[in-house]
Amino acid sequence: MAIIDGKQISTDIKNEVKKEVIELLDKGIQPCLAVILVGENPASQVYVRNKKRACEYCGIKSLSYELPESTSEEELLALIDSLNLDPDCNGILVQLPLPKHIDEDKVLLRIKPEKDVDGFHPYNVGLLSIGKAQLKACTPAGCIELIKRSGVDITGKKCVVVGRSNIVGKPVGMLLLAENGTVITCHSKTKDLAEVCRQADILVAAIGKPKFITGDMVSDGVVVIDVGINRMDDGKLCGDVDFESVEPKASHITPVPGGVGPMTIAMLMQNCLIACKKQKAM
Ligand code: GUN
Repeated sequence: MAIIDGKQISTDIKNEVKKEVIELLDKGIQPCLAVILVGENPASQVYVRNKKRACEYCGIKSLSYELPESTSEEELLALIDSLNLDPDCNGILVQLPLPKHIDEDKVLLRIKPEKDVDGFHPYNVGLLSIGKAQLKACTPAGCIELIKRSGVDITGKKCVVVGRSNIVGKPVGMLLLAENGTVITCHSKTKDLAEVCRQADILVAAIGKPKFITGDMVSDGVVVIDVGINRMDDGKLCGDVDFESVEPKASHITPVPGGVGPMTIAMLMQNCLIACKKQKAM
């Protein structure tokens, strides 16, 4: 049994990015990410701060736009338009959720796909679904890295994804398929969910319900990736997997916190580098 150290793996990835950024700096190129936050959602403020910190660590320049809650959709779209045109800005990230008066889909569509480092633009989702992804959604890509860097070969494995959201469940299923996994995506209407989960060689939990996956729902030797981040009544974080009962059966398992969480930002850094190199034709 091995606990997958997402913190260590994310640091390894950031160090790899940093190394490549140093090489680009030698050529007079510095990747640059624009981070846009609208309003004062405290969780978003923490995420944005961590993203800017990671940029600093990797040598990526970050442009920060912290806009008031009252910002109109037009104003936000105008900012995106100007960043789309700015050749010195390689990546644009609009922190979600946006205030209710702003149409999120419209905003995400406005970001030039080449600068969409979140991988949320339908064009990038489309490339992912045909196995030709350039900028992959960060959390799903992070799940794949955790599996691969733990020495697990996905090819031919039965992969069960629990959850079908557009930001995790669906894209993680497509990435596992691209890695030659045999993929089943389960959701709230799935019949005999426990029985399906027990067939998994690799189980990805992205449901949003604390400790939903229990020990009786997995088979011995399973690889478990827990995407859930749930705040318990006692203030502690827990995943979608009941770690206590699942861990003894798993060959590899991610903890919460310290599993998938840190990977999202590491993959964002990787996407910034990929976007920059592509735009500069490096
Ligand atoms: N809000 C929660 N997670 C994310 C993410 O990965 N990207 C953005 N832009 N907003 C988020």
